[in-house]
Amino acid sequence: MSKLLRALTHKRGPAPAQGAEVEALERVRQEQKRQIRALEKVAGHLLQQRGALPLPPTSLRVRVGRVEHAGNFWAQGLDSSQRVLEVFGADPGGPVLDWGCGSGRTLSWLRGVGTWDRWWRGSDVDRHAIKWLRQQGIASVVVCGDEPPLPYPDESFNGLFCFSVLTHIPPQLHAAWYADIRRVLRPGGRAYITVHGDWNMSNGKGFTEADRQAYAASGCHWSEREGHYKHAATVSRAFTERALGPGWEVESYREAGYHSMDDLIVRRL
Ligand SMILES: C[S@@+](CC[C@H](N)C(=O)[O-])C[C@H]1O[C@@H](n2cnc3c(N)ncnc32)[C@H](O)[C@@H]1O
Repeated sequence: MSKLLRALTHKRGPAPAQGAEVEALERVRQEQKRQIRALEKVAGHLLQQRGALPLPPTSLRVRVGRVEHAGNFWAQGLDSSQRVLEVFGADPGGPVLDWGCGSGRTLSWLRGVGTWDRWWRGSDVDRHAIKWLRQQGIASVVVCGDEPPLPYPDESFNGLFCFSVLTHIPPQLHAAWYADIRRVLRPGGRAYITVHGDWNMSNGKGFTEADRQAYAASGCHWSEREGHYKHAATVSRAFTERALGPGWEVESYREAGYHSMDDLIVRRL
């Protein structure tokens, strides 16, 4: 950040910027926007060269994240794909479901890596995202329902991952979703899951003292905001372990293990 911008935006700084200061601030802002656009152009070009999907339209990007600009979409997908590769490796050895795949933010980076082109499967309730993926030539995608079951036979998958999906599903449905995830996994199959957990309740914005007390008692919190997938679930580790039920081995549980979300790896027994 430039000295000028720092001076103008400093919390304890003088009265709000005026006149020439406002103009200078605006020039800095415009220059930063130009630089972001230039970097996005370079990144987009490099991504196309390595076989990534095109950038989905803004109308789809805003359905998977609060920040709609291209750089954010790509950066989030890079992070999630790296986590997938850490958990499942470059050759998952069988089908892996990207449950709540949206418009392929993670897939874009997995394409061309090891055997992922062969094994990636995707599903989402968002029929617009699934239609767009099909238009890009991705056939292994289906629309699923808001509630289980997933549209797959029992024991279809070697693995499943879901980035910020249960974070948008009411806590009272988590147990049913875990049971269905277990159903579609083969014995020994693993699932990588992110949830908003205790870290979010302690550090997240918008919780009142009453929310925190209710969460301490119930282990969960649900808030409804404008736009279907803006709804947000926060669940404690104990809540998630109860919701999982028997039939799982919890390989790992990390508080704020993935961005501000807790992440867990579970293995179907
Ligand atoms: C925050 S976005 C994350 C998208 C994707 N996992 C990613 O990381 O790019 C949440 C996604 O979950 C999807 N979703 C919400 N409820 C779902 C459900 N019951 N089944 C499948 N997908 C769901 C939404 O449509 C949206 O695409």
